[in-house]
Amino acid sequence: MSRIVFCLAALAGLSVSSAALADGNAGRGAQVYRACVACHALEPGLHLSGPSLDGLMGRMAGEAVGFVRYSTGLKDAGFSWNAAALDGWLKDPASMIPDTYMTFRGIEDPQARADLVAFLEIAGQPGGGKKVVDEGLIPAGWLRAGAPEPIGEPSPEMRVTAVRHCGDSYFITTGDGRETPYWEKNIRLKIDSVETGPPAGTAVILGAGMGGDRFSVIFPSLAALKNLIAESCEAR
Ligand code: HEC
Repeated sequence: MSRIVFCLAALAGLSVSSAALADGNAGRGAQVYRACVACHALEPGLHLSGPSLDGLMGRMAGEAVGFVRYSTGLKDAGFSWNAAALDGWLKDPASMIPDTYMTFRGIEDPQARADLVAFLEIAGQPGGGKKVVDEGLIPAGWLRAGAPEPIGEPSPEMRVTAVRHCGDSYFITTGDGRETPYWEKNIRLKIDSVETGPPAGTAVILGAGMGGDRFSVIFPSLAALKNLIAESCEAR
């Protein structure tokens, strides 16, 4: 008798856990995935603050080719991504990998996690991002997620030829020959070294929204930044 009860309990346990995994709905999961778009692209090889999730399923943790900012814990984790591992990770990344750089507090609700895992089972295959777009699960814009728009060939007004800093201001000369003063707090200096960034040797100035007086000056390399900026109060 006790053996029968044990068997029934084991069977019940089995069906509950497989039901919990099978239950995930990829369509609902796509909405949960919204929380990941700030940091992850689905386009192959496109790494943002987190690695591209293309081809994630079945891959060893911490091994996306070309992503160089993994925590030691994730790099050395020694497991590959499947539904169960993802469920644990998405519940509480920091309890699974204490030194993780994924600053995401996790998803409490088991159903939401199952839905998200069902979505990742499709989206996390090689080329799966395109598939979930074709199936209408996510908008195409989520493939590149927060990746900046490709800069392309800048117009003369966008091209920065010199930057001087004086007092609390930057004086920025552009390809049309004009020098414009900016309050230093409104200018962000950035380096964008990927191929969608500025062409080699060329810096660009772009509006950064926020009421129209904030700008980013984007350099293709640290060398270009050093070359183009000087401390000088002499007008050109
Ligand atoms: C604030 C940015 C951020 C958010 C939001 C975020 N992640 Fe991450 N994610 C990262 C970073 C950074 C890493 C690398 C972590 C490390 O190395 O410790 C990572 C790693 C991962 C990994 C491991 C990848 C690998 O190659 O082993 C998976 C899987 C993952 N994230 C899935 C998700 C999902 C799904 C969501 C949405 C629920 C999400 N992440 C939300 C930044 C983020």
